Amino acid sequence: MKKRVLSGIRATGRLHLGNLLGAVEGMIALQNDHAYETLYMVADAHAVTTPYNVEDLRKNRREVIIDYLAAGLDPEKSVLFLQSDVPQHMELSYYLSSVVTIAKMQHLPTFKEKVKQYPEHATMALLNYPVLMTADILLYKAGLVPVGIDQEPHLEVAREIARRMNDLYGTDFPEPVRFKTTGEYIPSLTGEGKMSKSVEGSYINLTDDLETITSKIAKIPTDSGRGTIKEYEKSPLTESKISKYVNEHSQEAIGVATLMLFIELFIGKERVEELNRQYESTGIRYGDVKKELAEAIYKRLVPVQEKRKELEANEDYVNTIIAQGAATAQAIAKETMREVREKMGLL
Ligand code: ADP
Ligand code: TRP
Repeated sequence: MKKRVLSGIRATGRLHLGNLLGAVEGMIALQNDHAYETLYMVADAHAVTTPYNVEDLRKNRREVIIDYLAAGLDPEKSVLFLQSDVPQHMELSYYLSSVVTIAKMQHLPTFKEKVKQYPEHATMALLNYPVLMTADILLYKAGLVPVGIDQEPHLEVAREIARRMNDLYGTDFPEPVRFKTTGEYIPSLTGEGKMSKSVEGSYINLTDDLETITSKIAKIPTDSGRGTIKEYEKSPLTESKISKYVNEHSQEAIGVATLMLFIELFIGKERVEELNRQYESTGIRYGDVKKELAEAIYKRLVPVQEKRKELEANEDYVNTIIAQGAATAQAIAKETMREVREKMGLL
């Protein structure tokens, strides 16, 4: 049997490079691998966990489907659907919430951050966020989840819930693991934190034109462009380096590391090595390098933007994809819910 894959993105706005490199590229890689059956949803129900505007949500949930299709998700290969079209997500979430404690949920870094961001909105839905995400995954018994590194704490919760359910009720949920991409952590353009749609100035949208990308890249903080590079600075940011950089380095140094990471991802490793040598000899002219990078990013996004224009003009096609995705997902979801209710004594 094929191994199942599930992932989702919250319907809170247009996708950015972090979403593309951390999540969508992984989704595409698995979709194109015959060993996997891939289901990708728009987490629209998760969007109500933070304050939102009703009309924006109505628009955004479709926009994410369009972004998925434009970026290369293929409805012939992947099931694309809206989370709220499959009510079993809510049903399973409720049953799963009976095996986790409030204390555990309150201590998650993602919960604490959101409470800090919206102190008036520390709601039950927000506390339950990771449980609903677990339900999204376990409903399809997915073992692999392509998401960025920031989602790791949520996957830990999912594994714990799967284990407890299996121990207590004899279900056969796999313990889901994260599928990593080379862009699992895309830093912010500001030199502080990760690229995120909730931080203005931190991101490049998939729909940005060359001029916008150029001006955003120009704002990445940089140093003098010349000096000695420490051994661990020679390759771009990796998971283990993140905290080291944040604690030990200036915003300029983080900016340079960010620039190098983008160059590796959009131009290639050789170019980074070349620039490293230049940094230690004649020095780097960041203006030129940034222009080169902006063009490379834009080049990667042009086909996505072209596909998007086609899709925007084809409302019926998008509606059909959403309806078909809902039907396929519901069929799997119903079967899992029947099993869960039976094992838990509710059938
Ligand atoms: P945002 O933080 O911008 O609101 P989401 O939380 O909706 O983004 O994330 C959607 C997906 O994109 C998740 O899989 C997440 O891990 C990934 N992602 C978001 N930002 C980044 C980033 N800066 N680097 C890598 N992956 C990211
Ligand atoms: N929490 C994820 C994010 O912020 C979105 C999400 C919801 C998700 N449910 C999921 C991701 C299930 C993977 C699997 O990006």
